[in-house]
Amino acid sequence: MNHIKNKTLLAAMLTEGKGLSVFNPFDDSLLAIVKTVNQAQVEDEVLELEVGQVEWQKRSAQDRSNLLKRWHQLILENIDDLARIITLEGGKPLKEALGEVRYGASFIEWFAEEGRRAYGSTIPSPSSDRTLLTVKQAIGVAAAITPWNFPLAMITRKAAPALAAGCSFICKPSELTPLTAIAVTELAYQAGIPKDVLRMVIGDAHDIGEAFTYHSSVRKFSFTGSTLVGRKLQMQCASTIKRTSMELGGNAPFVVFDDADIDSAVQGAIASKFRNAGQTCVCSNRFYVQDSVYDEFVEKLVTAVDKLTVGNGLDDSTDIGPLITLQAKQRVSDLIREAKGRGAKQINKEVQLDGQFVAPTVLVDVEHDRPLVQGEIFGPVLPIIRFSDEDEMIKMANDTIYGLAAYFYSQNMNRIWRVAHNLEYGMVGVNEGIISTEVAPFGGVKQSGKGREGGKEGLEEYLETKYVCIGGLTN
Ligand code: SIN
Repeated sequence: MNHIKNKTLLAAMLTEGKGLSVFNPFDDSLLAIVKTVNQAQVEDEVLELEVGQVEWQKRSAQDRSNLLKRWHQLILENIDDLARIITLEGGKPLKEALGEVRYGASFIEWFAEEGRRAYGSTIPSPSSDRTLLTVKQAIGVAAAITPWNFPLAMITRKAAPALAAGCSFICKPSELTPLTAIAVTELAYQAGIPKDVLRMVIGDAHDIGEAFTYHSSVRKFSFTGSTLVGRKLQMQCASTIKRTSMELGGNAPFVVFDDADIDSAVQGAIASKFRNAGQTCVCSNRFYVQDSVYDEFVEKLVTAVDKLTVGNGLDDSTDIGPLITLQAKQRVSDLIREAKGRGAKQINKEVQLDGQFVAPTVLVDVEHDRPLVQGEIFGPVLPIIRFSDEDEMIKMANDTIYGLAAYFYSQNMNRIWRVAHNLEYGMVGVNEGIISTEVAPFGGVKQSGKGREGGKEGLEEYLETKYVCIGGLTN
């Protein structure tokens, strides 16, 4: 932490006394102890934000936009510190952390602009003495729970549309990565965003989850995390009929057709699989390769995988950092062991690593019903399955409860349209391994969630449509 240059950020992160200990996943060293709050305190904070929201929504969209733009600018001015904090507490290679800061900041700039376009509409009236119109209004207090894998971008992707829409926003970041959350919030305050409009609360996940989901003043709840937890939170939100957005688990297929550009497919596979050591909801989870290009793809892929460097995220040469916790490593190792026990073969260099590291692992002859293929791996493991027929492949790709992202490589335009249409996923990458951007809607179908973040859709998640009928008019 002593490399952080902005001393105000450092002071905001380092609090005295008892609280939550934050560790570096690279070497398990203690980074900081941060202040926590309990359920009753969170409930009080929600009430303060309810008051703050009333004034915030009265401000002009232009005014809110200016403050968001200032926040965006301050984040970019502090990019090196923020990236370093992300790497220290999350393990992500520094080059990826820098990318995350830019990605996270881009949502603020985007929604600063989109907030000025929250248009209503006029409706042709069925009677001449009435005028009908709709206006867009902020929902109210929005609460969110965000994950550790993108400790900055998953906050800004929710906070920026909420604030731009005129909502106030309260968030519980992951207890594994609270420092980035504290730092980015401090920059928001420096930008002039009021403290009764934006809050970060750190503490027990269960208690804060209850405070958010059962509180009648919270009108919107947004969650990024596992399907298991999302399902429970969604049920809790039902008690007060909240609007919800759920960005949940994925099981992304990555398909290589016989008409693909194989070099580009290999590059896309590496980018999509090993981003953040395989710990993203949209990481490719299972690879399907058509018969006639199978050998070529697998050989080139293994060559590329064996060039990847595993190590400390702060080293320039590192491509893959540690997994977030020892339990995460244990879970991924168990999946590999289970698949190998059922006949899967590792075809790249086998390396055993200490600490929280898992070496990149390429497996072939994997049975399709194994947990490695059916569940979300969240680690640098790449199971490959051979296929011959397109329809058979689509069936396998869709045979899952998840529907977040899918990827495929083909140079045939007919096939591109057909397969993109037939894949039951919220997002499809064609000849691309990384598709996330602030300008496009991010989200899933089936049990991968509901709602969209980013794009023009992202703002709608924080707006209500009010219909106004003006009657008794004379012409
Ligand atoms: C996630 O893994 O939840 C987000 C990934 C992304 O935004 O690309």
